[in-house]
Amino acid sequence: MYENILTETRGRVGVITLNRPKALNALNEATMREVVAAATEFDASPEVGAIVLAGSEKAFAAGADIKEMAQQSYTSMYASDWFAHWDRLTALRTPIVAAVRGYALGGGCELAMMADVLVASENTKFGQPEINLGIIPGMGGSQRLTRAVGKAKAMDMVLTGRMMDGVEAERAGLVSRLVDDKQILPIALEIAETIAGKSKHASQVAKEAVNAAFETTLTQGVLFERRTFHSLFATEDQKEGMAAFVEKRKADFKHR
Ligand code: HXC
Repeated sequence: MYENILTETRGRVGVITLNRPKALNALNEATMREVVAAATEFDASPEVGAIVLAGSEKAFAAGADIKEMAQQSYTSMYASDWFAHWDRLTALRTPIVAAVRGYALGGGCELAMMADVLVASENTKFGQPEINLGIIPGMGGSQRLTRAVGKAKAMDMVLTGRMMDGVEAERAGLVSRLVDDKQILPIALEIAETIAGKSKHASQVAKEAVNAAFETTLTQGVLFERRTFHSLFATEDQKEGMAAFVEKRKADFKHR
């Protein structure tokens, strides 16, 4: 069904694996459309509570496809609103866990940063090397990287194009969990399974609430959180979660 990605469902986790090994998973338009389509389908499925986004051992993704971009002009980029489609990925409500092995460069780093939880190892290489091509990040890197690691490191990365390994990235706040190389995918799946085992409604609004912190003032964000918190007392999952605690048993969430 897809040419550039592999998809599967493991329990309540939807897995999307970038699969352009010859191009180190470079993100061309077709790959973007497939990732967004597969993620949208998982997002709509009541059976899926979390998504894992993975690449290969060598590369999560080595960036947007330079060969595809090389011949573009300003007007062709503008007319097609090049790569704006990725925004749909960030609008999805299902939590996304990125298993970031090897290179995550340019659009690859930006794609990883669109995920909600990032798992990496000391061998993962993050970078925004667009400056070496005479361009700048175009899928949110200058914004999401800066929010994640602050101005000092973001400027360093974006202006010099240098790579940052997983250890530095974890210290800087870009990586959620730093694990052994071989454990990246298993741990990403484990995290996704854990998330998918919670109340689906609560995990979706939790994601919304954390993301609101990037879009609003503290007062507005705290108000949004409080009202959302109040609303959860209208859900069956809140009744079940609290009853299970009191009765000292595991909660049986409805995942609606
Ligand atoms: C197209 C790519 C590619 C890319 C690698 N390949 N990255 N093709 N676009 N971004 C291809 C190579 O051309 C080569 O194919 C094959 O993958 C293997 O790559 P090598 O370079 O031979 O591997 P290696 O020597 O191990 O070096 C790995 C690497 C290097 C350090 C990751 O490939 C590299 O620097 N890639 C480019 C990284 C980059 O600049 N990314 C940012 C892109 S701009 P062939 O057929 O030639 O052997 C971007 C903008 C985002 O992302 C904005 C969106 C709007």
